[in-house]
Amino acid sequence: MIYHEVLVVGGGLAGLRAAIEAHDAGCEVAVLSRVHPVRSHSVAAQGGINAALGNHEKAQDDSPERHAFDTIKGSDYLADQDAVEILTSEAPVCIYEMEHWGCPFSRTADGRIAQRPFGGAGYPRTCYAADKTGHALLHTMYEQTLKRRIRVYEEWQVVSLAVEDGRCYGVVALDLRTGALEAVGAGAVIFATGGGGRIYGNSTNNIINTGSGMAVAYMAGVPLKDMEFIQFHPTSLFGNNVLMTEGARGEGGYLRNALGERFMEKYAPQAMELAPRDITARAIQTEINEGRGFPGGYVHLDLTHLGAERIMERLPAIRDIAINFTGVDPIYEPIPIQPGQHYFMGGIDTDSTGATEVAGFYAAGECACVSVHGANRLGGNSLLETIVFGRIAGRHAAGYVKGEGGEAARSGLAKVMARVLGETEKKVLRVLEADGPEDPADLRDELRETMFRTVGLFRDEKTMTAGLEKVHELRERYPRMGLRHRGRRYNLDWARNLELEGMILVAEAIAAGALARRESRGSHFRTDARERDDESFLKHTIARLTGDGPRLEYRPVTITRWEPKARTY
Ligand code: FUM
Repeated sequence: MIYHEVLVVGGGLAGLRAAIEAHDAGCEVAVLSRVHPVRSHSVAAQGGINAALGNHEKAQDDSPERHAFDTIKGSDYLADQDAVEILTSEAPVCIYEMEHWGCPFSRTADGRIAQRPFGGAGYPRTCYAADKTGHALLHTMYEQTLKRRIRVYEEWQVVSLAVEDGRCYGVVALDLRTGALEAVGAGAVIFATGGGGRIYGNSTNNIINTGSGMAVAYMAGVPLKDMEFIQFHPTSLFGNNVLMTEGARGEGGYLRNALGERFMEKYAPQAMELAPRDITARAIQTEINEGRGFPGGYVHLDLTHLGAERIMERLPAIRDIAINFTGVDPIYEPIPIQPGQHYFMGGIDTDSTGATEVAGFYAAGECACVSVHGANRLGGNSLLETIVFGRIAGRHAAGYVKGEGGEAARSGLAKVMARVLGETEKKVLRVLEADGPEDPADLRDELRETMFRTVGLFRDEKTMTAGLEKVHELRERYPRMGLRHRGRRYNLDWARNLELEGMILVAEAIAAGALARRESRGSHFRTDARERDDESFLKHTIARLTGDGPRLEYRPVTITRWEPKARTY
């Protein structure tokens, strides 16, 4: 059996940052990733990462406190305020560390890290590298893991988490290249597996973002938190939903309907195009639904007034994407856009050290819910969360291994891993040998269409109930699927069908949480309960998996300094 003191699952920013921290704390560390690390979804982040550096001429009195307030108001007061204060106070430290590691941030005229305005932020505080910020950060972080010679298992997919008596012992994973199933024991495991955008249709996410880490944890008994809060990015390219960064509006881009109107005036008269994403995405969809969009269902992101020089310097990637996918050059013509699923605010339930209720099991990044985003995340705070909480989770996992966790975990390790390996072997063979009539691709498509339509931007009891029933139907049909190709080597059909069960279970947790929350808050907007209801719902939803689906519990939100108020922009 393979063994590592700290095993990090996921090679994106949160995972690599956790691995670096655990390594620097003296642990032997390995990273296990479904793809080569620089192909992780962090690489696709465009517009930037928030920190109150005060480098912009309009942000000289910015501070971590103001950043915290904006984040908490943006979250519609569902974020845990102690965790948000950690996020924003650690932000400058993390950005300067990335700068010292060589991250090629864009610069101000006097050489400091450049910052741009982003939605819901009182000051321009989003640091960026043109519109390829994730790419710049991830490559810099990967260099640091290479420098430390941290072992990376590339193209391995975790199938099970080994948990017994409230303690984590490792994972069982499929080596996609050989098809071998391996037990990987560990003193501590950190999941940094990203989000589950591909459970939805019309997503900006990479096809690997299937919520697999959340599902594996959930199936091992770890609860998920606040799953009903799904972010829809206001500006994804019409037709294929590739991200068109919020940075485009940060640089001064306008949103216009088919009448040529800057319609945000009606929805957020002060913030206009830089309102938070929940408000802006609903505004766009309202314009489309009420007949002021273009045929097919889109509005325009208009950059034509910014000028060629600014577009080519600050937004070169979205110009390329617009030209390549739609034939539109944003220097001369507006870009057709529509809201697209973008981010999961919810995830594996952790505290602000990244710890879950299972000893030795940690989570960080989009797969985790600390919670710092509450009901609506501000743009630029997710890259920040990956680094701040990846680092914290790495440190605490190392502390656990060096302290009470290490020896105790090793004592029962072989027995537990053998049991979980045996159980997982049966499961993966069942999927490999499945020869039923159902085509898994149909199940996936139906799941995505259902989730986007019924638990989407606008929600109500009747539609969500129908959506949940459909998800139950898919859960029943899943065991009747058939696999087309039965070879073990690089059988991505097998790997994808294996994770489909988890996608259905996570979808069920989302829909059940949304149905039970009879209010509107942040991204969760119900046309049959339009107001926020703090008396009944200022609380986190905790979903635990049972044989009958999710069992919901609730937990209070931590309020430190900012009492909930009406949210206007
Ligand atoms: O619009 C963007 O560039 C996305 C940023 C984010 O999701 O934080």
